[in-house]
Amino acid sequence: MAEKAPVWQELLKRALIEKSDYSVAFALGTITLNGKPSVRYVGLKEVISIPSSANDISHSVVNSEPLDASTIESARRPEFSALVFTTDVRSPKCAEIQRNPACSLSTWAPESGIQLRIDGTAYIYKPAWSQQGAHPPEVWLRPDMQSSPSAPVVNKVESIIHQADLEVHSRALFDGLHSRTRAWHTRGIPGNPMDSYTQGEKEKWLEELQAGDSAETEAARNFALLLVVPEEVDIVQIVARGHDRRWHWKLSRDLSWTVTELVP
Ligand SMILES: Cc1cc2nc3c(=O)[nH]c(=O)nc-3n(C[C@H](O)[C@H](O)[C@H](O)COP(=O)(O)O)c2cc1C
Repeated sequence: MAEKAPVWQELLKRALIEKSDYSVAFALGTITLNGKPSVRYVGLKEVISIPSSANDISHSVVNSEPLDASTIESARRPEFSALVFTTDVRSPKCAEIQRNPACSLSTWAPESGIQLRIDGTAYIYKPAWSQQGAHPPEVWLRPDMQSSPSAPVVNKVESIIHQADLEVHSRALFDGLHSRTRAWHTRGIPGNPMDSYTQGEKEKWLEELQAGDSAETEAARNFALLLVVPEEVDIVQIVARGHDRRWHWKLSRDLSWTVTELVP
């Protein structure tokens, strides 16, 4: 029997269908190399869902009345999931994630009054197809396991995500990038001072990058997937009438979810 996803996964997938590119934007919080919080927006590209094996599933506890009966059913039959973003591997957030993969995402949908917060572990995936000449290609830019509070689940998670065939997903996402976005990956290093580049280099950055251009190989070398595996999810719904509501999901070691209603 096909397994249903928790309600927040459904909300994300619906938002991706209903909204255009980049409009499902999340504020992504990471910890800088100096130990300070840093937040920027990233555009959600995909939500990968992998059904948990029958052995992995245990029934979640529902402590109070959620949205409706179907919500309870959804929350009881979890799927393993990862939020997929694309990024430039040279951007500072990638080094930050390698140092400390703990991260937090948040978005706000005014039309439904829903705030979604996702705390989890981030992974940087450098596709093998983009690394010409690297033998063997190193596809995971691995977090420092010592400092990761999630270290016990990291290996299990990597092996599960692998089932999603990230080589195929990443190629499709790269090919689907707008030519302007693809060209972003051939420009100077994100965050570097502009005056460290010549006028000639900067003029070249204005050119769009079409599929098949020779610079595409360079763009691909700097392209990476940024995956966030949720571990705790919090939804607050602000309503015009009646009580505001808040739910909290927590991922257990056996990859099942527990949902609890909280005071908003
Ligand atoms: C709406 C919006 C969507 C964005 N989407 C992405 C994205 O998907 N990936 C990305 O790396 N940067 C994206 N950016 C740019 C980042 O916010 C950020 O400026 C850039 O990645 C450098 O970040 P860093 O210095 O924290 O590494 C987006 C910016 C905006 C305003």
